[in-house]
Amino acid sequence: MSDNHKLPLVALISGGGTNLQAIIDGAVGDLPVEIRAVISNRPDVLGLTRAENAGIPTRVLNHKTFPDRESYDQALIELIDEYQPGLVVLAGFMRILTPGFVRHYAGRMFNIHPSLLPKFRGLHTHQQALDEGETLHGASVHFVTEELDGGPLIVQAQVPVRDGDDAGTLANRVLQREHLIYPLAIRWFAQQRLHLAGNGQVYLDNQPLQQPVLFTPGQEIV
Ligand code: GAR
Repeated sequence: MSDNHKLPLVALISGGGTNLQAIIDGAVGDLPVEIRAVISNRPDVLGLTRAENAGIPTRVLNHKTFPDRESYDQALIELIDEYQPGLVVLAGFMRILTPGFVRHYAGRMFNIHPSLLPKFRGLHTHQQALDEGETLHGASVHFVTEELDGGPLIVQAQVPVRDGDDAGTLANRVLQREHLIYPLAIRWFAQQRLHLAGNGQVYLDNQPLQQPVLFTPGQEIV
């Protein structure tokens, strides 16, 4: 497939970038995307090195050099739009976004969140799941809307909570699933099989999703 038929994508990161790595690996394979840039709000994070190693342009827009959230997000829009992405993916981008930023990318921005939303929005999701005595935990990919971690869900993956788990062991188990479901959702979008209607309804293959697709290991979802 030539680059003309690939979805132009910009990824935003704040840290280690294992989800970014999964997307890079997919793009090296048969994921029909062209990662045009990786942008981090933090300098010197491993995710930037991952992008550089893959030959992807990297940019740092340090939030600490801006007086407020509005001016940062405006500068971020200008930076992202230099690359004219068809999809913006938040891959461990640990910033609360302004409504104007979210509206600018309405229907073309994804986030991945380490919980079975709507459970456990925000931070420390694994500890929250342990504290609540959950036996199932997981991750969700969703369209980004103005509601923090509240946008329409696309796909989820579940993992068991095991005796003796701590937040770290649970996070690792969830991450393994994140690395599968994020490229999957991106693939559907790149193939123009997935879209968000103006009323907030997600459509996959022209069917309204009544609930997120549940990814099950071993089950082939194409
Ligand atoms: C991932 O677990 C992702 O779901 C989470 O941050 C981690 C980033 O890991 N995102 C959020 O919590 C967003 N609210 P990575 O940098 O290795 O992809």
